[in-house]
Amino acid sequence: DWTSDSFIETTIAELREKLGNDKVVLGLSGGVDSSVAAVLLHQAIGKNLHCIFVDNGLLRKDEYQSVLDSYQHMGLNIKGIDAKQRFYDALAGISDPEKKRKAIGRVFIEVFDDAAHEVQDVKWLGQGTIYPDVIESLSVKGPSATIKSHHNVGGLPDFMKLKVVEPLNTLFKDEVRRVGKALNIDDNILGRHPFPGPGLAIRILGEVTPEKVAILQEADAIYINNLRAAGLYDKVWQAGTIYLPVQSVGVMGDERTYENVVCLRAVESLDGMTADWCHLPYDVLAKISNEIINNVKGINRVVYDISSKPPATIEWE
Ligand code: XMP
Repeated sequence: DWTSDSFIETTIAELREKLGNDKVVLGLSGGVDSSVAAVLLHQAIGKNLHCIFVDNGLLRKDEYQSVLDSYQHMGLNIKGIDAKQRFYDALAGISDPEKKRKAIGRVFIEVFDDAAHEVQDVKWLGQGTIYPDVIESLSVKGPSATIKSHHNVGGLPDFMKLKVVEPLNTLFKDEVRRVGKALNIDDNILGRHPFPGPGLAIRILGEVTPEKVAILQEADAIYINNLRAAGLYDKVWQAGTIYLPVQSVGVMGDERTYENVVCLRAVESLDGMTADWCHLPYDVLAKISNEIINNVKGINRVVYDISSKPPATIEWE
């Protein structure tokens, strides 16, 4: 029967056999799947695995640096690419959620393709695809759909012509986590909530600007740190903060303010297909709200999302 140790042993042997002395390029996202795939490949072929981690400017506060540090600690051969401005430029003036997703997908492909070209004689594209992704490969969301729509307009980018190696494509999510644990991957990475590829861009309703991203990152960091401090982070399936394009009146001393609203979302779920809103304790919510309002300039109101999926999706866009 299945154990993570036997899976690791056979997979590494198979990867060595299949890849020989070939080079593999792989995009890391900070998520569980790509990280576990990278460590397995690294154990199989060492420096012939070239990892690429793109800062799209849409990650959580300080996440790019902390994840990059973890990857470097793990000994991965990794290149970090600061592409923030390219993503912000591509998002300027766009408010439609699907257009935002497309713009982000397109820029990601361009940035990744440039980085992949720098790896001489690369033969393979490594991916963290897991079994449910294989079954749902026709889903409308996610990178594959973006790549397909890009492909229809502009032709295949070169990295997509590489042979594909997907060491996790027979595993379910909990098995991937078990393999990750057996491989000693940081809890900082293994225990991480799911986070969408388009990142904070789909948690900022309407047009994305670097200023809104900075405000949302601050509010979100307060939210997530408080969930951790209260021992709630691991009990919640996914949590995030949403920047609403709504201003409301507040008072500060004897001045009236007119500032933005952020919404806190926390859900329980098994697979993201359905979700219930979490009944977070009022005292924790009160502390988070006070801290955000007192510390994040531009926010004077915090609300909590009490909607379940269906019909309310986890993300607001
Ligand atoms: P929804 O919002 O549809 O989300 O209830 C279900 C799960 O999917 C994630 N999600 C995405 N992930 N690209 C991604 O990689 C996307 O465009 C995207 N949209 C939603 C969401 O965070 C949740 O975990």
